[in-house]
Amino acid sequence: MPIDWTKSKYGKKHRQFLSKKPENMKFFTLCDGAARSGKTLSVIYKIPQIFSYIGNDYLKVFSGYSKGTVRNNVLTELLPYLRNYHGATCKYNSQSGELDIKLWGKNYTCFVTGGGKSDSDAAIQGGTWDFWYANELPKHHYSFYNMALSRLTSERARLIADSNPESPNHWLYVEKIKPFLDGNPEVRSVFDYFHFTMNDNLNLSKTFIENQKKLYRGVFEARKIKGLWVVADGLVYDTFSPLKHTCLHEEILRKIANNDFIEYFLGLDWGWNHPLSCGLYGITQNKVYYKIDELYGSRLNETDVIRWINDKQKEYGRYFRFLNADNARPEQNHKLRQALPNMIIYEEKPRLQDSISVLRGLINYDNLIVNSERCKNTLREFKIYRYPSEDEKSRYEDDVPVKENDDTMDETRYAVTFYESHFAKRIITY
Ligand SMILES: Nc1ncnc2c1ncn2[C@@H]1O[C@H](COP(=O)(O)OP(=O)(O)O)[C@@H](O)[C@H]1O
Ligand SMILES: [Mg+2]
Repeated sequence: MPIDWTKSKYGKKHRQFLSKKPENMKFFTLCDGAARSGKTLSVIYKIPQIFSYIGNDYLKVFSGYSKGTVRNNVLTELLPYLRNYHGATCKYNSQSGELDIKLWGKNYTCFVTGGGKSDSDAAIQGGTWDFWYANELPKHHYSFYNMALSRLTSERARLIADSNPESPNHWLYVEKIKPFLDGNPEVRSVFDYFHFTMNDNLNLSKTFIENQKKLYRGVFEARKIKGLWVVADGLVYDTFSPLKHTCLHEEILRKIANNDFIEYFLGLDWGWNHPLSCGLYGITQNKVYYKIDELYGSRLNETDVIRWINDKQKEYGRYFRFLNADNARPEQNHKLRQALPNMIIYEEKPRLQDSISVLRGLINYDNLIVNSERCKNTLREFKIYRYPSEDEKSRYEDDVPVKENDDTMDETRYAVTFYESHFAKRIITY
């Protein structure tokens, strides 16, 4: 359901941004800050005014991490807004990304594209643009960003972007935000910066904001609620609580007997000198994940994994739908396929940072429970898996945890994020 714009409320910061006349806007305007602080909808609100100022001589581009994210984050609100409040007609071809907008008697040719992959810039070579809206700009690839900038050559060209904070080493922070905040005149002559916190969005209920605040602490509170560019540190799963997020084996057995689990599946992280970790999961009707059991140890190979899985199917008397394994050992995954023909073996490695944030979201909403008697290694790693300290940081990429005590952690990500992204159909922003 698109929002009702007649009920919109605007705080001081939003009014500052919204009252800027397009002719007075810098070449590049960035709306930065916390998730749900009202950045995207504020940009959408200004689009008719900006289009009318720029005119329709050149192409207008909407980009995001992928075409799908632009559709979900932007077009689902933009198109009804243009149609219902400005009498526009809009035609969007989701295959080609072509978007035609007829607004106040003028036709605007627009293009929707994804900028998140290393080869995304190939799709935007050539041509002149006069408008670019980059939704969640930090998620764009640097090569796409530079290519897009080089296309914006028309005299009235404008770039508007929104961003959620990431690490302060990100190119957007280093090249634009930091120099702007430091008062660098060169950057300030072409770049304008608006910063929003969750409290600035008067359209959110107090209860919603209070509940969100309860979910985050430390660095994640700074990023999610205040919208600050800070480096991740401390425990990766700092909200994991052994009190809330574990259960006894008898509770699992009761749930199995009651048919509370609608499906069973596995995750697998191969290892030899490093421990191997294999986990068994059940998911309930309410989409709560239970880690039921684990196999963990060094010098285990595919024969041990196959035997363990067969034993567990017998022990629990249930059929396991699939296993998602790390893709570094294709020959061993092949052996699993041969020995377990009724189970699908996937090899899909999720992006580390994204899958950590999925798991953190599930934990924050109490949607992941670990069997404390059978999954001792998982439990141990949840309590110690951490980001590097100040002196260790130079050895790691940003937002990458220390590569210790990560075997069950990786395996849990492989299993749960796979289910979450392919089957769970949940609408939560993590
Ligand atoms: N102008 C507005 N009118 C009504 N609701 C709004 C408005 N701006 C924001 N909201 C509410 O706040 C939520 C978050 O806004 P959004 O612009 O998507 O935030 P962000 O892009 O900062 O994550 C929206 O889903 C909507 O419910
Ligand atoms: Mg947004």
